[in-house]
Amino acid sequence: MRDLPAASGKLEYRTFGKTGLKISKVGFGGWQAGMSAWGHDYTDRDARDAIITAHENGINFFDTAEAYGSGMSEKILGESLKGRDAVIATKLAGYNSSGVEKSIERSIRNLGRTIDLYQVHWVPSFYTNLRKLFRTIENSVKAGKIQHIGVSNFPLGYLEMAQNFMEREEIVSDQVQYSIVHREAEIELLQYCRRNRIELIAWSPLARGELTGRYFNSRMPFTLSRSLNKFTSGRTLSQPLKGYLKEQSVSLGVSIPALAIRYIVSKGILPIPGAKNPLQARQNSEAMDAYIPEETFSGIDSLSMQYATGSLKLLIPRAIPNTLLKIVMSRSI
Ligand SMILES: NC(=O)c1ccc[n+]([C@@H]2O[C@H](COP(=O)([O-])OP(=O)(O)OC[C@H]3O[C@@H](n4cnc5c(N)ncnc54)[C@H](OP(=O)(O)O)[C@@H]3O)[C@@H](O)[C@H]2O)c1
Repeated sequence: MRDLPAASGKLEYRTFGKTGLKISKVGFGGWQAGMSAWGHDYTDRDARDAIITAHENGINFFDTAEAYGSGMSEKILGESLKGRDAVIATKLAGYNSSGVEKSIERSIRNLGRTIDLYQVHWVPSFYTNLRKLFRTIENSVKAGKIQHIGVSNFPLGYLEMAQNFMEREEIVSDQVQYSIVHREAEIELLQYCRRNRIELIAWSPLARGELTGRYFNSRMPFTLSRSLNKFTSGRTLSQPLKGYLKEQSVSLGVSIPALAIRYIVSKGILPIPGAKNPLQARQNSEAMDAYIPEETFSGIDSLSMQYATGSLKLLIPRAIPNTLLKIVMSRSI
């Protein structure tokens, strides 16, 4: 590996809900690895080095999915973390219900190890037998292929339904879009998860780069992943919010991505920022380093209140035809 910045060693750890796993308060998102839907300004080597840098800076929770680069993200993550102590979460694309066992076997092959957390990526299509799907996944826990079961993009009703389909296991987490500008999960999901010790994992915690400050004065570059973001969010930061983040960043000596990440940690939610290179990985893993007062989070809260209102956004993935999802998620363009 190339020379990388030294670890700061200040990351904090906590228990991941019912699992008893000790995880870092900041995780790592692996969608960027092994595909070019995030642009052409990085290589697989950068992605590998980002993963290793994150791990060497204390991050031990890594997220990926069979859909990312058609398994390439899983492979890169597995290779980079080989022999390292880490919790790996992957996801079932579930384009059809009959292939669950095959998907699990394929993910294990790609990762080179069993799966710590297996998440159902989206609410499956209308035609999927959900009971059968979750029972099959439960059987894989019994077989020792999976340690824990989670879901992703499941609104409250579906989360409860999934839990009811379980015979032996419990749903331990729901991974949803959550950031300063995507706060819908606060409406009911967050309270429910807190009451039931279900972990919320925040995807796109940096709003796909928008909350890093890098694009405050310019347009974000067009990449497939970001065009998807517009599809699922379509919102931009207000001037007062940008101004506040810039001002707090300067006065506290904390980077803007760190503020965005810490805001999520302050809600008891696990952020999994994606990184394309070691520098980004290091900056994100250093988010816990600085002291940030409560008032800063309250300030962000009040300036981003409009993003905490009701929306059907979490239901959108269910409405996207499976074939379109499959093309979008697996294309390397
Ligand atoms: N369950 C789901 O349906 C779902 C959906 C989406 C994502 N996810 C997961 O969540 C993870 C994170 O979400 P995401 O990747 O969509 O978005 P994100 O974490 O909000 O943003 C990632 C992007 O922000 C920029 N960035 C990251 N760190 C930076 C830093 N320190 N300084 C400046 N720029 C930085 C990079 O883009 P540039 O360098 O190009 O600006 C990077 O590609 C994914 O990797 C994936 O594991 C899950």
